[in-house]
Amino acid sequence: MRVLVLNGPNLGRLGRREPEIYGSLTHDQLAAQLVDFGSGLGLGIEVRQTDAEAEMIGWLHEAADESLPVVLNPAAWTHYSIAIADAVAQRTADLIEVHLSNVHAREEFRRHSYITPYATGVIAGLGVDGYRLALRALADRIARRDE
Ligand code: DQA
Repeated sequence: MRVLVLNGPNLGRLGRREPEIYGSLTHDQLAAQLVDFGSGLGLGIEVRQTDAEAEMIGWLHEAADESLPVVLNPAAWTHYSIAIADAVAQRTADLIEVHLSNVHAREEFRRHSYITPYATGVIAGLGVDGYRLALRALADRIARRDE
């Protein structure tokens, strides 16, 4: 089963971007780890990152049209983008919202997510493990569905 891991703005700078908050792994390293982890779960993982809202919306439409499960870190769009929320609302398969940092323990503006009402579930504050937990949950849910 194909699964998209979609990362929003500034996540391409992982490793260099506030490493005390977001860790020292680069986006390329994150992608390689997740592809590897996903193949152990029988999932074909595609990891993509963009700073452009229109591109992310296109990927969410693609996921909706092809019924692909998604792990989404909407980054800053989480907190203000109704356009990303509207695209997520069209989902036709599970979508798990992931944040590397614990957004509830940071600035007030990070506590609100426009995405959460439309997500299957949310994981925040567990760093890269959050992506792995999301992929494991998706694999379990796909297996149960196919039982
Ligand atoms: C983030 C948290 C957001 O508040 C922030 O804008 C990001 C990354 C996270 O992964 O912790 O860019 O989504």
